[in-house]
Amino acid sequence: MKLHQNLSPIIEQAFEQTGLSGSPIILQAAKNPDFGDFQINGVMGAAKKLKQNPRDLSTQVADILKQNPTFSSVEVAGAGFINLRLSPEFLAQNLSGSLKITPNPTPEKIIIDYSSPNLAKEMHVGHLRSSIIGDSLARVLGFLGNDVVRQNHVGDWGTQFGMLVAYMVEQQQENSQFELADLEQFYRNAKIRFDEDENFANLSRDYVVKLQGGDETVLALWRQFVDISLQHAEDVYTKLGLLLERGDVAGESRYNDDLHNVINELSEKGLAVDDDGAKVVFLDEFKNKEGEPAAFIVQKQGGGFLYATTDFACMRYRVGKLGGTRLLYVVDTRQDLHFKQLFTASRKAGWLPENVSAEFIGFGTMMGKDGKPFKTRSGDTVKLVDLIDESIERAAALVQSKNPDLSADDVANIARVVGIGAVKYADLSKNRTSDYVFDWENMLSFEGNTAPYLQYAYTRVQSVFKKAGDWDIQAACVLKEPLEQQLAVELLKFEDVLHSVAESCYPHYLATYLYGLATLFSRFYEACPILKAEGETRNSRLQLAHYTGEVLRNGLNLLGIETLDVM
Ligand code: ARG
Repeated sequence: MKLHQNLSPIIEQAFEQTGLSGSPIILQAAKNPDFGDFQINGVMGAAKKLKQNPRDLSTQVADILKQNPTFSSVEVAGAGFINLRLSPEFLAQNLSGSLKITPNPTPEKIIIDYSSPNLAKEMHVGHLRSSIIGDSLARVLGFLGNDVVRQNHVGDWGTQFGMLVAYMVEQQQENSQFELADLEQFYRNAKIRFDEDENFANLSRDYVVKLQGGDETVLALWRQFVDISLQHAEDVYTKLGLLLERGDVAGESRYNDDLHNVINELSEKGLAVDDDGAKVVFLDEFKNKEGEPAAFIVQKQGGGFLYATTDFACMRYRVGKLGGTRLLYVVDTRQDLHFKQLFTASRKAGWLPENVSAEFIGFGTMMGKDGKPFKTRSGDTVKLVDLIDESIERAAALVQSKNPDLSADDVANIARVVGIGAVKYADLSKNRTSDYVFDWENMLSFEGNTAPYLQYAYTRVQSVFKKAGDWDIQAACVLKEPLEQQLAVELLKFEDVLHSVAESCYPHYLATYLYGLATLFSRFYEACPILKAEGETRNSRLQLAHYTGEVLRNGLNLLGIETLDVM
């Protein structure tokens, strides 16, 4: 249920009756549960405008709210805050609504650009954040009833593909059984050949020209390479349990035919100008170090197109063909300026209309414990497959030591769920805009704000139901203890939290909420015995446990994290 939206009209009405109509009520969750569940902070501002005493006005608003059965206590505090506590009856009646989501009545068409690796190389840790964050956003936005279109904007075009295709042909000639197993090594070897052999380099350049000119033979070779490289990426997606599929791939190559049009239109509109033989967009909004408009190059000297050119064509496609109303780009923060320039220039060109929002969903770098970008011991970039495998291995050792009686199959399954959950959660629980330190011990710990802790909390709830016997989910619920009530309030906030994630694109809001819920549940579990209780108390506590389990499971699932009944 949308708790906030349920409470707001009640408070707005009280504001109206006190002569404060139109003033923002500013309703927030209370920081300290001892004072209440929510706090109204809007009276002070309204009083200032009206030159009235804030405490008097707050008292008037509070007196009206006191008559409403939604609240069990309404108290004026400090300079004119109003602390609200939801009544146990209201909570009990609405508990079953904690999982009911009102689907967006006017669904948005949301295009999410995420993962988007360059296919010339193996996926490395740099693509992990985009993949995980984008996947979670796609899940949350879809769950709220929006029409979500996933776009994997893979780098499958450009000069290096000439070299890679040339090298692939060479390898296939030498060995008909040739298989592209290690992309990273393949790229390195191709580069060596390119640098040392003039003929090979010329052939590579020739392939680029043919590729861009649409030569069918070279295109077929290129397709073969792209297909193998995509399979590598898909192995990672499958391992990670991402929603991305082949049909979501819309790589740079797709926009090739529109690049000339982009340049022509940008020039006609006076946005792109000649600069030393290149075509450049200068925007007053973005200054370089010298204080002059920063250059946004859209065509190189000699006519070659760039990353930016492709992104203009892609923008036209997402708005014009896909009909997107909200465009999200989940990309490393280092590309911030690129996207600012892209959005601003696209607005000016008329390709990004007022009613379509374009948002850069930037994220920081994954750091090692040494405070430097995460690398292998030898200083190489860490391949994603290796990272995931290592996490699963570490989780397996942990699970086995905790529970030596488990069968090998069980260990393997739990280790997969925990290992992958840990990697995802370590990322999603942090504010995405900051860099974060990748630390195996922390993320695989069963204590603290980690996936294993949350997954275990869920399992603990399930174990209650194994022993519970018959109980009634429909029976009237009674909430007498403060911790029972607090837990119910928390459960009812679920949909509000999802909306804040959807608006801000910060999945850590959901992670923080789930962690809070799990710790609250464990306090409740200590203080309020469930199975030893009797009658309606026992049944009500089982209801609370049931909804806690469901919110944890659904919430983790929206972060792309699985749960287990036993672990
Ligand atoms: N392939 C790019 C990279 O690895 C990310 C692409 C992001 N999406 C876009 N439309 N530019 O840096």
